[in-house]
Amino acid sequence: MSNQREHWGSRIGFILAASGSAIGLGNIWKFPYIAGENGGAAFIFVYLVCIAVIGLPVLIAEILLGRTTQRNPVGAFKRLSGSPFWTAVGGMGVVAGFVILSFYSVVAGWSLGYIIEAMKGTFFTFSEASLAGDHFESLVGNVKWIIGYHGGFFLLTMLVVYLGVKGGIERGSKIMMPILFFILIILVIRGVTLDGAEKGLAFLWNPDWSKISGQSVLIALGHAFFTLSLGMGAMMTYGSYLSEEDNVPSSAFQVLFLDTLIAILAGIAIFTAVFAMGQNPGAGPGLIFQTLPVVFAKMPGGFLFGILFFLLLTLAALTSAISLLEVVVAYFVDELNWKRHRAVMIFGFTIFLIGVPSALSFNVMAEIKWFDKTFFDIADFLASNILLPAGGFFISVFVAWVWGLDKAVIELRKGAANIFERYGWLIVAWKFFLKYIAPVMIFIVFLYSIGVIK
Ligand code: PHE
Repeated sequence: MSNQREHWGSRIGFILAASGSAIGLGNIWKFPYIAGENGGAAFIFVYLVCIAVIGLPVLIAEILLGRTTQRNPVGAFKRLSGSPFWTAVGGMGVVAGFVILSFYSVVAGWSLGYIIEAMKGTFFTFSEASLAGDHFESLVGNVKWIIGYHGGFFLLTMLVVYLGVKGGIERGSKIMMPILFFILIILVIRGVTLDGAEKGLAFLWNPDWSKISGQSVLIALGHAFFTLSLGMGAMMTYGSYLSEEDNVPSSAFQVLFLDTLIAILAGIAIFTAVFAMGQNPGAGPGLIFQTLPVVFAKMPGGFLFGILFFLLLTLAALTSAISLLEVVVAYFVDELNWKRHRAVMIFGFTIFLIGVPSALSFNVMAEIKWFDKTFFDIADFLASNILLPAGGFFISVFVAWVWGLDKAVIELRKGAANIFERYGWLIVAWKFFLKYIAPVMIFIVFLYSIGVIK
C-alpha cells in the first residue's frame, strides 16, 4: 500500500512545506508581542533554549514517526504499538487539527480582510491610534465581514489541500514561501532604515532579565510547541511523505532554523517601525491589527508596506492552515480509505462550521462565556495549552520509552549516516533530551497551563 502513497518531489519541497507549517500567525502575530511583553532579548534567549533542548528533539521524533510508518498520526501509533491507548493519542492530534484550524482561520481571515483595507487606503484615516482600534472593533463586530473572510480563507486552504501533496502542498509552498521571505526582507529593510529604528532594536536586544519569571519560561516553552507545529501530528503527517533516503535530523534542523529566523526578522520589522512611529509596543495581541495600521499611515511608503505586510501574514497563515487540514484529510484517506477530494470537501466545510462560533465570539456571541472565556478563547486554550503540550509529552514518552530508542535510532540512521558518523554526540544528546528533559519539562508546563502550578 505504501508504494501508492504520494511523496514529496524533492527535499527542498519538504523543507519548504514543513517550514510553511511552522511559520505562521505564531511567528508574525504572536512572537513579537509576547517577546515584547516578556523582556525582549531575555525572553528570546529563553525561547531559543526551549527550541533547542525540547523543540528540536520532539520535532525529530515526530518527523521520524511519520517517515517510519508512512501514516497519519492515528495510523502511525497504531502500527508501532497496536495499543488502543496510543492510537487514541494519535486521534487526539486529529481532534487538535479540527480545533486549531477552526479558530486559526478566523484570525487568518482578519489578515485577508486587512489586505483589502490596506488597498482601500483605510489606514490613512487613522489620525489617532484609537481610531484604528475602533475600526478593528467595528470590522470584527460585523458578522458578514468576519464570517466572509473566515470562509474565504478556508476556501483557499481547501483548494491547496485538494490538489494533493505534490501538486498542491509542495507546489503551493514552493511559490508562497519564497514570496514570504522576500516580503519580509523588504519590510525589515524598511523598518531598520526608518529614523528612530534603533529604539526598536534596543527594545528587542537589550535583555531585561528582571522580566524573566517562571511564567515567561513557560510561555516560551508553550510557544516553542505552537510555532514548530508540534504535538498534533502535523510534522508527523508531513514526515510520512518522506522516504528512507531523506535525512530527518538535518531537515528538522533546517525547519527549526527557518522558523526561528522568521520570528526574529518579524520582530525586527515590527518593532523598528512601531518605535520609529512613536507607537506603543506593548499593545499585546492587538499589536498587528490595531497598532501597525497606524504605523503604516505615518510611515513613508506606508500604503505599499501595509499591503505587503498583510499579504505576508496571510501567506504565512495559509501554509500553516494547509498542514492542519492535511492531518485531518490524511487520517480519513489512510484509515478509512476515503478519497482525498471527498475528505477535503467534507471536512473543510465541517471545520469551517466549527469555526463559526469562534467568529461569532467577537460579536453576537461575545457575551456567551464559560469560565469567563468565549468560544474562541476556549478553542485557543484547549489547543495551545492542553492538546499540544499533551501531544508533545506523549510523543516523546512514546518514542523514548514505548517504541524504544534503539529502534528509533535504527530508523533515524536511514538517510542520515553522515550525521551519525560526523556528529555522533548529537544523536546521544537527542536520546537524552527526548528521554528525560522533554517529558519532564513539558509535564511542568502542562501543570502550569492548566493552573495546577502557579
Ligand atoms: N506553527 C503554526 C504557527 O506558528 C501554528 C500551527 C500549530 C500549525 C500546530 C500547525 C500545527 O502559526
